[in-house]
Amino acid sequence: METSIATLNQKSVNTPSVSETQVIGLFGFGTVGRGLYHVLEQSPTTKARIKRVCIKNSEKERDLPQSLFTTDAQSLLADEEINLIVELIDNATDAYHIVKSALLAGKSVVSGNKTMLAHHLEELIALQQETGAALLYDASACGSIPVIRNLEEYYDNDLLLSIKGILNGSTNYILSRIFTDGQNYSDALKRAQELGFAESNPSFDVEGLDALYKLIILTVHGFGTYVHPQQAFNYGISNLGQPDIRYAREKGLKLKLVATLAKLNKERFTLFVMPTFVKPDEYIYNVEEEYNGVVIEGAFYEKQFMFGKGAGGFPTGSAVLSDITARFHDYRYEYKKRSYFSPLAYTTNVLVEVYLRYTSPVDLDLFGFTEISEKYSSREYSWVIGKLRLSSLISIKELLPKLNVFLAFTGNVEPNGTGGNNE
Ligand SMILES: NC(=O)c1ccc[n+]([C@@H]2O[C@H](COP(=O)([O-])OP(=O)(O)OC[C@H]3O[C@@H](n4cnc5c(N)ncnc54)[C@H](OP(=O)(O)O)[C@@H]3O)[C@@H](O)[C@H]2O)c1
Repeated sequence: METSIATLNQKSVNTPSVSETQVIGLFGFGTVGRGLYHVLEQSPTTKARIKRVCIKNSEKERDLPQSLFTTDAQSLLADEEINLIVELIDNATDAYHIVKSALLAGKSVVSGNKTMLAHHLEELIALQQETGAALLYDASACGSIPVIRNLEEYYDNDLLLSIKGILNGSTNYILSRIFTDGQNYSDALKRAQELGFAESNPSFDVEGLDALYKLIILTVHGFGTYVHPQQAFNYGISNLGQPDIRYAREKGLKLKLVATLAKLNKERFTLFVMPTFVKPDEYIYNVEEEYNGVVIEGAFYEKQFMFGKGAGGFPTGSAVLSDITARFHDYRYEYKKRSYFSPLAYTTNVLVEVYLRYTSPVDLDLFGFTEISEKYSSREYSWVIGKLRLSSLISIKELLPKLNVFLAFTGNVEPNGTGGNNE
């Protein structure tokens, strides 16, 4: 009891008085930066104001006074009045330097940059500890859905078993067009691009990288372990063809691009991003269009489901606003699964059951199936259902999108024997 009173007293000492205002140096004024500006205007009780905005192109027309904008990053980072940096740019390398410089200058940071975080989180966690400055980034994974903060605060115990989610809105929109409207992949992609849900170069979304980067961030908060993107498997939907769509339909299933994080036993977990067959009784079956959905499973509480907008200027801006107000109350991630638990070890020595459609037996041989349970062959194509090691998939990860094959996860994963190492 005494300890908790002491903790409370300590907290109230650290909490800023309500008259203090956060003075923000904003980097980036694109979709999310502008969204944040708008959301902040609609939230008059938030004690925060944007003092300066750093952008890349000084020639671009803006609908706010030019005096607000600068291309000089240093003028924000060195401004003593600015006590919070909000980083919302689209360049991961520049973002890394901005965030690192801000933390080193003792300024706390809010970021939405999943690519930057997925590559540098380990170092940025250490920097927060060294400098005392905080880094919040709930907008980086699933836009407006507060998954990270919930993993940190609510799922901060041993019970978490898995996270399974649709973390990318563009691909989900494409798959909705295919499975609900009967469009083919290229028409659905074109429509997604017309509506601004997919970039003109869509590979970041459709090859599963965006979902992987988000999953890596969630893993740090879910199981305490950082996994570099190169060590993890992502495979997307760009090779999805009519035979695969027909197969799913005949079985009463849908294909979704799903990020899977699964605890295997007390010591180990695995993760990957793959198109996945989803049954009608699964929560994510009905997540359609550009929405995201995340199922969190644990011992005793079973499955819980979070659903919402994973992208867009206003939804993502609202997540950034939530991090800004969290900083007002001195909130920081404690990285509880790293600080108070033994983080689980990542393993790729697991057997995953997959559907593989192929035309050449040479391609089939590349996968090293350990077991095949179903086979189909026609003159045009063949498919198999079988088990293979995740490490085998990682070894051909770069080659896979170039092959005339399509791969999808059936939902079954199991440890491979008693071993298990981080290969
Ligand atoms: N869009 C979404 O729905 C969404 C959702 C979740 C997370 N995010 C993340 O949020 C971040 C921003 O995304 P966005 O969609 O808003 O991007 P965006 O619309 O392309 O805007 C990018 C902005 O960054 C500025 N910029 C680029 N490099 C810069 C640099 N070195 N210094 C200063 N400013 C720089 C650009 O300046 P100019 O205006 O001069 O070109 C532009 O204002 C990304 O990390 C993205 O992954 C986006």
